[in-house]
Amino acid sequence: MTTLITGGAGYIGSITTRAIRASGRSVVVLDTLENGHRKAVGDAPFVQGDIADTQLVLDVCRTHNVDEVVHFAAYKAVGESMENPGKYFHNNVTGSQKLFEALQQAGVHRIVFSSTAGVYGNPAVVPVTEEATPDCQSVYAETKLMIERTLGWYSTTTPMRHVILRYFNAAGASTDGTLGEDWRHSQNLIPHVMKAVLGFAPAVQVFGNDFPTTDGTGVRDYIHVEDLAHAHVAALDHLAQGGHNLTCNVGTGFGTSVMQIIEATERVSGKKVPYHITARRPGDPAACFADAGLIHKELGWSPTQSLDDIIRTAYAWHQSHPQGHDS
Ligand code: WQD
Repeated sequence: MTTLITGGAGYIGSITTRAIRASGRSVVVLDTLENGHRKAVGDAPFVQGDIADTQLVLDVCRTHNVDEVVHFAAYKAVGESMENPGKYFHNNVTGSQKLFEALQQAGVHRIVFSSTAGVYGNPAVVPVTEEATPDCQSVYAETKLMIERTLGWYSTTTPMRHVILRYFNAAGASTDGTLGEDWRHSQNLIPHVMKAVLGFAPAVQVFGNDFPTTDGTGVRDYIHVEDLAHAHVAALDHLAQGGHNLTCNVGTGFGTSVMQIIEATERVSGKKVPYHITARRPGDPAACFADAGLIHKELGWSPTQSLDDIIRTAYAWHQSHPQGHDS
């Protein structure tokens, strides 16, 4: 089996590519390198290009005997998506549509799709189940939901079968310290906390401490990126064994507040994290964490790494990569 991995030069994509290869599969990575890093692909077969290039995707599938796909390639900056919606609808939605058409022509019918808990917006009930009504609060999240729905129609009108994975907050770095997130491309909390504790930023801004949560700060479900990677392997195995279509949350099932992230970072690093409380960020829910029962039931997957593992690997990665990433 050869797995095509779109966006496999990115943070989650590169760590998942490593896990897919470790499962015994051959891979081929397709990435524009617009946000990804060639070095992160290592010695995996690599093609630089765009998912919207139908002929290229066809050629890659045929040359490498592709029979399944993990589709990461997308723009994912929530704030940017609200300033430049066209860029996001074109790249994420139209690009995915062209990818699916090429896969159909190539006879590739198994796909695992990288979606987001962002489709839940501000959930009325937590933990959030997959039955919750989508309530997208950003163009980015809307693009992911649109692609989910496209996959739904392909699964009823073509032989395509899918597993949609709705990520909660992916965080941390590879245990061996060789792969991680480029903090130049991220507005997420943990890279910001690491910048502050490592002295590359004056302080981390805590976006509000007046939420109805245990300590007033925002609560999220932080999932180690290696656990997230293993969920993709389990999804590929499910489809390869003839499994049915699934849409699953991927999270720990536990909520962690901003202040708890800061406290864990101080514990792991032995340093004080400089921070100051600022106004809430528009659109931020007070709390969003997963009901992860379905993925455990259907795929037998459970997270194995703790919050301290997330913080420890993130700290080690950013301390050794102050420039963001190896190019
Ligand atoms: C986490 C918490 C903030 C930064 C986003 C996307 C989602 C997914 C993950 C792609 C919140 C607080 C943050 C900071 C802070 N991305 N915060 N200071 O917003 O939960 O999810 O990233 O799939 O789709 O929406 O992640 O890391 O931005 O915020 O206080 O400098 O940290 O308010 O409570 P979020 P985040």
